[in-house]
Amino acid sequence: MVSTIGILGAGRVGSAIARTALKAGYAVTIAGSGPAADIQLIVDIVTPGAVAMSAADAVASADLVVLAVPMHKFRSVDPATLAGKIVIDTMNYWQPIDGELHEFSADARSSSEVVGAHFAGARLVKTLNHIGYHDLETDARPAGAADRHALAIAGDATAAAVVAEVINRFGFDPVYAGPLEAGAAFEPGSPIFGGRHTAAELTAELGLEAAAAA
Ligand SMILES: NC(=O)c1ccc[n+]([C@@H]2O[C@H](COP(=O)([O-])OP(=O)(O)OC[C@H]3O[C@@H](n4cnc5c(N)ncnc54)[C@H](OP(=O)(O)O)[C@@H]3O)[C@@H](O)[C@H]2O)c1
Repeated sequence: MVSTIGILGAGRVGSAIARTALKAGYAVTIAGSGPAADIQLIVDIVTPGAVAMSAADAVASADLVVLAVPMHKFRSVDPATLAGKIVIDTMNYWQPIDGELHEFSADARSSSEVVGAHFAGARLVKTLNHIGYHDLETDARPAGAADRHALAIAGDATAAAVVAEVINRFGFDPVYAGPLEAGAAFEPGSPIFGGRHTAAELTAELGLEAAAAA
């Protein structure tokens, strides 16, 4: 069971996830690229209740890790620290911000498969990438609300089930898309990316209706 979420990245996405996680009752550790002191003030103001740490400490104390660093920085995260951890990959390859990254532009796979190869010892799960950071808190709804939106999840089924419970507590219906490669369906440029969907709509967009009916 997840009780502490460690967030790598104290920027827009990491901060919104931190506040959402705190509201959902999780303990939160959060890190930027440097020592805890570098983000202490901003964490106190922007994500009160979260504990600023170094990246290594934030990960070590967490049951679940969230990668919320710019894609062009993912290789600066030490893979050894993530070994054995369930890790949510929120990252998108976004050329205006990341520049031209050949390893993504020349690779037809989901970006999470490329990232996952780097973090080979981690149990990578792709989600939280297709909702804008500014919508995460405003769109969250209690389970059963008619206007609750859904978020897609891709990764190995066991790790994804753990993440699905977190997404539910965050205020969204989790929809399991399949293994990591299925995450290509909700990356930038897809109809799902940036849209708002109910669980039924997202299931249909992912082409899972036939599988569910079978
Ligand atoms: N914009 C959206 O609505 C949205 C939605 C979903 C997902 N995403 C994805 O979320 C990711 C983060 O985007 P953002 O807009 O939050 O970026 P951002 O505001 O630029 O923040 C990035 C954060 O990552 C930190 N960081 C960099 N390298 C790190 C490392 N090795 N360990 C720990 N922290 C590190 C930075 O710390 P320093 O300042 O110390 O470098 C900074 O706190 C991107 O991959 C983006 O594609 C964006």
